Amino acid sequence: MIVSPKIRGFICTTAHPDGCAAHVQEQIDFVKSQPKIENGPKNVLVIGASAGYGLASRIVPAFSSGANTLGVFFEKPGNDTRTASAGWYNSAAFEKAATADGLFAKSLNGDAFSKELKQQTIDLIQNEMAGKIDLVVYSLASPRRNDPETGEVYRSVLKTTGGDFTNKTLKTETGEIAEVTIGAATEEEIAHTIKVMGGEDWKLWIDALAEADVLADGVKTVAYSYIGPTLTWPIYTDGTIGGAKKHLETSCAELDAKLSKSLGGCAYVSVNKALVTQASSAIPVVPLYISILYKEMKAKGLHEGCIEQVQRLMADRLYSGDPQLDDAGRIRVDDWEMRDDIQSAIEASWDKVTNENFSELADFAGYQEEFLKLFGFGLKGVDYDADTDTAIAPPSLSA
Ligand code: NAI
Repeated sequence: MIVSPKIRGFICTTAHPDGCAAHVQEQIDFVKSQPKIENGPKNVLVIGASAGYGLASRIVPAFSSGANTLGVFFEKPGNDTRTASAGWYNSAAFEKAATADGLFAKSLNGDAFSKELKQQTIDLIQNEMAGKIDLVVYSLASPRRNDPETGEVYRSVLKTTGGDFTNKTLKTETGEIAEVTIGAATEEEIAHTIKVMGGEDWKLWIDALAEADVLADGVKTVAYSYIGPTLTWPIYTDGTIGGAKKHLETSCAELDAKLSKSLGGCAYVSVNKALVTQASSAIPVVPLYISILYKEMKAKGLHEGCIEQVQRLMADRLYSGDPQLDDAGRIRVDDWEMRDDIQSAIEASWDKVTNENFSELADFAGYQEEFLKLFGFGLKGVDYDADTDTAIAPPSLSA
């Protein structure tokens, strides 16, 4: 099949297998160009391993400290007439490259919120992995969750928790700036968002893994959060998603206490940089902020993608002996994004940005390029006019 991008709103409904493989390879090459992480993890479980921050969290330990990895995700396989989702192709490419380097790499595709998938994960660790898990990365971004006990479906919303919030936003399909008003969530919507994106499921995972005795002494676990500047707080930090992230932090403290007592382990929340991913593209206001952020960070030579962020997280924080926690006990690899010079430049641009000066003040070309890359488009060396096999699968998930 010849595959081209089909963009609908903030998603692309097609993905290119060779392009996704090239994107994964770019990230592997980056990790291989960096110094090896001394005393890095050896047996890693990544929940949400197929895209964005989770994929990078699988690539870094594999290619930096030779880790065996088990990746859990929820992706759609392809066939001869329909492409798979990008995460499916990313995982196929990852497994192939890791196996070629002699590393164990297996994946499970299904609903991470379910009891069944947790049990399958435990079975796979017990039956196929050489050792217990010494790093669990929790990197899920999901719009819904089926409660494993009651079967009730919870849906997360991206709303404020105060009144209406009006600000500039970017229509990413057309590159137009427009005004958007985001309404306030109901109490029920706030609670549902916490159910989906808070820390409850992270705790269920760690409890299930601990109970099955598949966590190693000294195990570390990390989940990802975002804070950002005050201009996005009404929709992010003070919004429904921010409420879920606060819950994640409370859960982290509980997990840390439990793990340190039972296994000498620890739990962290890492606050990461705003980046173009499938999850962040859906948040109003944020894509405009990211476009201006990219312009400023690239101009100062500070720009990082997911892979550079996770490399720094693992090399300089998680495995450096000094995680450099902030006053609230969080790891901060959003430190460069939040630098005063970067933020004051963004504030100045934000106030004056219009459709007329957008291309001067923001890096929309960079935004679009990165968005397309998420789906395997626009990568050097890929022949997009050639017939390609859309039915490929991660070797461990091939029928
Ligand atoms: P993403 O959309 O790139 O990846 C989400 C992952 O979750 C995929 O692997 C997907 O298959 C998996 N997933 C979704 N629902 C699932 C389910 N029910 N069962 C199993 N797997 C499922 O997301 P991204 O942006 O990498 O986000 C990951 C985490 O990082 C989130 O907690 C997000 O809030 C956080 N974060 C993201 C930032 C950003 O700018 N993108 C910034 C800071 C934190």
